Amino acid sequence: MPQAPHVFHDPALLRTEIRKAQADGKRVGLVPTMGALHQGHLSLVAESQKSCDLTVVTIFVNPTQFAPGEDFAKYPRTLEADLKLLSEFDPVWVLVPEVDAMYPPGSTTEVKAPEIALPLEGTFRPIHFDGVATIVLKLFQVAPADAAFFGQKDYQQVRVIEEMVRDLIVPIEIVRCPIIRESDGLAMSSRNRYLSSEEREIALSISRSLHDAVQQIVGGETDAQLLRDRIEHALREAGFREIDYVSIASPHTLESVETIEGDVVILVAAKVGTTRLIDNVLVSFPVSS
Ligand code: PAF
Repeated sequence: MPQAPHVFHDPALLRTEIRKAQADGKRVGLVPTMGALHQGHLSLVAESQKSCDLTVVTIFVNPTQFAPGEDFAKYPRTLEADLKLLSEFDPVWVLVPEVDAMYPPGSTTEVKAPEIALPLEGTFRPIHFDGVATIVLKLFQVAPADAAFFGQKDYQQVRVIEEMVRDLIVPIEIVRCPIIRESDGLAMSSRNRYLSSEEREIALSISRSLHDAVQQIVGGETDAQLLRDRIEHALREAGFREIDYVSIASPHTLESVETIEGDVVILVAAKVGTTRLIDNVLVSFPVSS
């Protein structure tokens, strides 16, 4: 039965209530978000509800993961619509904190993201993962859940969080959830709403070229450079002018591979107009179409 979510603004109160629920034997799941919810986020809530008795969603546009000149100011803030979407679920708790509650005035402590943050996104957004690691650790403090659910769409982000949790011995299970795509293949993202219809058409070449690359691997292609070149060519043909990277890498270390002879992740980041898009696909051996 749909029910309005219980909204908390005070992190300390949320933590107290979570502790009480856990003392009553409830398993708690956490879905950290920046709001502007779409089906990708909702799939994380659904996944949490499968294995947890209580799901906590956080909605916080985290300033420290945006560099000056990125889209922090224009990032969509759609709280009312988000709460409506969440009311379709079994009741969830939602934390909507003020910036001062997450970054108490005068605070200067931050988390330095693990080394896996350095390539790919780290090259183009050097401060991004320090900001993500800092806020995610804070969210784990205020919402000390048993498990936290993250989408594989932000593949490197999930790897950063997995390594941070291992390194800092944070007692939480990290659950990776599959990418949710529009019917035409576009990976769901809060930033898709920035795209004009013409840009959206161009954007589709990302998922198409990833799909084609997987088919070529299924067909026996092992030359990673050849596949990277083909993906880049397809993106340029479609209209992308700014391609940050096309990488075929180890899913564990994110180091680029030359010969595809085991599991790989193919990652792309490219900009259409002013919108930067990322997408990826995991290829697990033995491969099949
Ligand atoms: O993936 C996101 O939406 C954000 O990076 C996260 C994990 C909520 C941290 O702000």
